Amino acid sequence: MERSYVAKGRHRVVLVIPSLGIVVKFPRFRKRFLIEFWRDTIRAKSLGPFVGRWSVTKRKNWGWMFRDLKRALILTFMGMEANWGERSYYKHCSMYSRLLLQPTYLSFLGVINIQEFAEPAPIDESYTIYFAAEAIVGGEGMRPDGHHWSNARNFHLANGRLRVIDYGSAETQRILDEHGLSLYIGFDIEEGRTRYGEYKKNKTK
Ligand SMILES: Nc1ncnc2c1ncn2[C@@H]1O[C@H](COP(=O)(O)OP(=O)(O)OP(=O)(O)O)[C@@H](O)[C@H]1O
Ligand SMILES: [Mg+2]
Repeated sequence: MERSYVAKGRHRVVLVIPSLGIVVKFPRFRKRFLIEFWRDTIRAKSLGPFVGRWSVTKRKNWGWMFRDLKRALILTFMGMEANWGERSYYKHCSMYSRLLLQPTYLSFLGVINIQEFAEPAPIDESYTIYFAAEAIVGGEGMRPDGHHWSNARNFHLANGRLRVIDYGSAETQRILDEHGLSLYIGFDIEEGRTRYGEYKKNKTK
């Protein structure tokens, strides 16, 4: 039986336990965004623009400060959002989209998720998967989520069929909502290979 190991994504750290058939996903807290907020917004301006007599400029400064803080908080806790989003999507998506998903059994407030184990596809299948999915979704539809679909480690391949193991982001969910059934029926890894071959040929011309 395969041994347990830890895998790291940009937003989550995953304890993979093949012997139990599960993975446990923990959010990564990316504190560098809060540090950047502190360094670039608060310390660099040495509080001058925020204190003193109230004026239109002061109001704008506070507005910018809150906007920057909100952005920093969202980026810092994105792993929790991805965990929570993954579980709620699994619970509430259409039955067609669900056919493509690796089940997420539970989420404890986004801090711990438990999902069924599935061997991630080999990394050298990344472009093949991307081109096979693009044949169905189309280039325009794929663009906002291109980096996700061109990383084979977000997917499992079972006899050439696609299973999504990372579906926490809103963009991925949009694609699954719009094309879930077509991806389930029509995803063809061989077509992906052919299209990728053609792409490489055209590139070297
Ligand atoms: N169900 C699973 N079965 C086996 N391995 C998994 C599973 N889910 C995740 N993994 C492993 O953990 C890694 C990180 O998980 P996941 O992709 O869900 O995290 P992420 O931080 O959202 O990723 P990204 O970097 O794509 O944003 C995956 O690339 C994969 O190697
Ligand atoms: Mg991932």
